[in-house]
Amino acid sequence: MWLRSLVALCVLLSATADKKLSNHATILADSSTNLAFNLYHNMAKDKDTENILISPVVVASSLGLVALGGKSSTASQVTTVLSGNKVKAENLHAGLAELLTEVSNSTARNVTWKISNRLYGPSSVNFAEDFVKNSKKHYNYEHAKINFRDKRSAVSAINEWASKSTNGKLPEVTKDVEKTDGAMIINAMFYKPHWDEQFHHKMVDNRGFLVHRSNTISVPMMHRTGLYGFYEDTANKLFVLEMALAHKMSSVVLIMPYHVESLERLEKLLTRKQLDHWLAKVEQRAVAISLPKVSMEVSHDLQKHLGKLGMTEAVDKAKADLSSISGKKDLYLSNVFHASAMEWGTEGNPPDTSIFGTDKLKDPKLFYADHPFIFLVKDKKTGSILFIGRLVRPKGNIMRDEL
Ligand SMILES: *[C@@H]1O[C@H](CO)[C@@H](O)[C@H](O)[C@H]1NC(C)=O
Ligand SMILES: *[C@@H]1O[C@H](CO)[C@@H](O)[C@H](O)[C@H]1NC(C)=O
Repeated sequence: MWLRSLVALCVLLSATADKKLSNHATILADSSTNLAFNLYHNMAKDKDTENILISPVVVASSLGLVALGGKSSTASQVTTVLSGNKVKAENLHAGLAELLTEVSNSTARNVTWKISNRLYGPSSVNFAEDFVKNSKKHYNYEHAKINFRDKRSAVSAINEWASKSTNGKLPEVTKDVEKTDGAMIINAMFYKPHWDEQFHHKMVDNRGFLVHRSNTISVPMMHRTGLYGFYEDTANKLFVLEMALAHKMSSVVLIMPYHVESLERLEKLLTRKQLDHWLAKVEQRAVAISLPKVSMEVSHDLQKHLGKLGMTEAVDKAKADLSSISGKKDLYLSNVFHASAMEWGTEGNPPDTSIFGTDKLKDPKLFYADHPFIFLVKDKKTGSILFIGRLVRPKGNIMRDEL
């Protein structure tokens, strides 16, 4: 009996033993982290943008797809944006594939993360066989043709596909397609953090979330006191909270100012170095957390932003050489839709009840997330950023709207 459990344990250990990430995947994980900050800052500048939700590792893999379809300077520009020249050309696609497969493995990581990708081309395009095969293999992309001339049915076809691929969690990617003469990338995702220690499903009530001083929205708020990573940056008047996700393989990091304010000030501070600095200061201690129990559905068109980061040719009709996609120089990237639904719920693994009522949970710090904050989902093993975003305006009814 004893021996049998030992054997079972060894089998279990070897099955879950960390397979080491290859060198090139490690380098690309690092590049995707730089991409995360560059892209976030570029998007945050947009005055019309409120909530932001992007997955840098998925954006990296879409860039990999563009590199796969591109030739000459169109391709090399994309590789530069990815800092992909740090790995050998023949390892780029395999490395990106390895990274995404690793971080999105639902079984190993006990999270829900469904990613669907599609490349749409105009009716006239003929996808090259090699390209279809390789983009499926490395990036899990499907291909479809669409008649963009019939805008209304094109838009509804896109939205229907996204909704279906996310089991209805993402009902709309776009209301309109402005440029109808190119190829279109769409990522449709559903992500649900599964906490290392669940919230009690009954510890939820309605509270006000202050979008700004004169605009309050009613949201369900979940509450829990437990041991969490916490750091108060008194110089910058902000809190950093790190909440482990299941199996502690990744965590959600929230960065929130003391009081309601525009996030501009925090965003100016937000660099990769600063984040590392904050996380190094985080200490495990008792924290009483209140967090909006909401779902965010956010869709961005990254075309313009990727252009600003240096991918200028692929998005330019006159200059793009995406001839590996179709064998002809007849395509450019007219839209890059990156859409995700993220559901902040109470679900997670059962908590360690042995610390309930002990000194460990005494005098908790308060983390009351009733005003805009920045958040990240950070992966431990690869160091990559699975999501980065900000919650500025949750869904809900307006409670007060004063002048
Ligand atoms: C996901 O993780 C499980 C458990 O660790 C492993 O058995 C499986 O091979 C992984 N899947 C992929 C696609 O890597
Ligand atoms: C996470 O693990 C728990 C317990 O093993 C299981 O009930 C749950 O379905 C898992 N969730 C996901 C998203 O894998």
